[in-house]
Amino acid sequence: MELTPKSTARIDNSGLSLTNLDQDIWQQLSAAPTEKNNRFKQYTLATATPDGLPDARIVVLRQVDEDSRSLWFHTDIRSKKIAQLQTQPEVLLLFWDDEQQVQLRCRASITVHTDNAEASNQWAKTWEGNRKMYLSEFEPGSVRPEPYPGFPVTLGENLPSCEASEAGRPNFAVIECRVATIDYLHLSRAGQTRARFEYTNGAVNREWLAP
Ligand SMILES: Cc1cc2nc3c(=O)[nH]c(=O)nc-3n(C[C@H](O)[C@H](O)[C@H](O)COP(=O)(O)O)c2cc1C
Repeated sequence: MELTPKSTARIDNSGLSLTNLDQDIWQQLSAAPTEKNNRFKQYTLATATPDGLPDARIVVLRQVDEDSRSLWFHTDIRSKKIAQLQTQPEVLLLFWDDEQQVQLRCRASITVHTDNAEASNQWAKTWEGNRKMYLSEFEPGSVRPEPYPGFPVTLGENLPSCEASEAGRPNFAVIECRVATIDYLHLSRAGQTRARFEYTNGAVNREWLAP
């Protein structure tokens, strides 16, 4: 019987090696922020509350840097998740691509950027439609006597001018997630494929796992 080489798996008959699979994952993540229908564009960010309870919500993948294994999302500095990230900066990012049947569970440690060049650069690239949400007069999650749209009601369906949108800048935060491990799972009738990638000090440890 011919033995399958240890470093090769069949994924959609493409026979990717662990190294190729690692590269493929990062290429797909890197493409996601600008690809309209890329399923990795939105993912679930899981955190722990200061009381140690679980919490999770969907965020948008805004930027990826393959070299530093980093992913970025944007949020309101006043949102509940910020306090959670400040007490527990270790998070889990959960991606699911239903077309490819691929799940990625990324463990990451985060850095919050607010009043620095990183946040200012990303703010400069943020269009008025997204800036509008940072104009909210109220803390996200605060109780209101009636439904509130998340921006001054006088704006309605209009966009703020670029100048007016600057009022949202103090509320804008960029969260950098430095990925430490990825647990990859591909579902297929022909057999599932699971692998772990561990990134430490510039080195990568890649291994197949039993699904
Ligand atoms: C499709 C989708 C995309 C979202 N993208 C973001 C995002 O990029 N950043 C963000 O802070 N909240 C985003 N939200 C809202 C969050 O899921 C969440 O409701 C909000 O941030 C408050 O979360 P928190 O109370 O845990 O801070 C998104 C929600 C959905 C449904």
